[in-house]
Amino acid sequence: MSKGNTSAKGTVWAPGRVNLIGDHTDYTGGLVLPMAIDLGTTITWHATTGSSRFFSEIDDVVVDLDATPIPLHWGKYVHAVAHLLKNQYIDPKISATISSTLPIGSGLSSSASLEIAVALSLGAKADTREEIIALAQLCQRAEHAATGVPCGIMDQLIVLAGQSEHALLIDCATFEMTPVHIPSDLKVVVQFITHRTLAGSAYSDRVAQCTSAQQTIGPLNRARVEDLVALDDPVIKKRALHVISENSRVKDFCSALASRDFNLAGSIMADSHYSLRNNFDVSTPEMDAAVFAASSTSGVYGARMTGGGFGGCIVIIAEKDAPVDGWVVQASDGAGLVE
Ligand code: GLA
Repeated sequence: MSKGNTSAKGTVWAPGRVNLIGDHTDYTGGLVLPMAIDLGTTITWHATTGSSRFFSEIDDVVVDLDATPIPLHWGKYVHAVAHLLKNQYIDPKISATISSTLPIGSGLSSSASLEIAVALSLGAKADTREEIIALAQLCQRAEHAATGVPCGIMDQLIVLAGQSEHALLIDCATFEMTPVHIPSDLKVVVQFITHRTLAGSAYSDRVAQCTSAQQTIGPLNRARVEDLVALDDPVIKKRALHVISENSRVKDFCSALASRDFNLAGSIMADSHYSLRNNFDVSTPEMDAAVFAASSTSGVYGARMTGGGFGGCIVIIAEKDAPVDGWVVQASDGAGLVE
């Protein structure tokens, strides 16, 4: 399927994502295991004359790409993506309508989903592996420009490269992407806990703390727990411990799923949550309580906070008929044109 806009009108869909395990590892070139989900952003467009305009069905805002100042809210993502594409001489004139089934500010990558959908509606290409990586990086730069948050590459990559029935094991240093089958007798449930935004959060501090650790013990994606003795600052040491141990947990979780040891997979999720809470300090009391409640429910194998933290969602893996509230999400294909 061709991914980008090559015609006078069309519709593009881009999923959101839930990360099964591997949080706060992507910006140090670590391992992540996100899954594209069946909630996402739709953009319908037609060619026009004059400047490109994006309308949203969520509110009354209209983004005119030739107008200044740059609008706040969702418009800043549209502007940032369009600006970077223009630098690559991709600048068709379209009139576009955006709609979304993703709850905004929930930590399910509504912004990455919007960025990718905008890029594809404007004609960016994402058919080959090289094009997918280049477009994910462009949209990551757009996210940095729009929010000032130095996010990693996970969200934009999974939105583009997701596969139905699979999560994707991504090595964020090499961009190697390996599909990991989600067994059909498992359900993945997302529970929305609180709204959050990473802008103004301590996300950037965490990135800086990891950079600081790397200055002493080298790249965290190659460091071992034994290397931590070289770190004097107890906070930096905890941050590095989280990243090193989380990279191992991603591999162990994939092995547990492959061998259908769902109880083991669940206990690895519990370890991940514990580390994100105690070593990385990105959970909240509400998320901790929700993880605890879900984990104590019969038929649930495991639960953890998911994404950047400071609010957002938790993810649960459970037996099909386990009595858990939330959105039961299906692993979906990545973004593309809708026939
Ligand atoms: C946010 C960022 C990602 C990643 C996660 C945490 O979603 O956009 O790049 O760092 O937080 O795993």
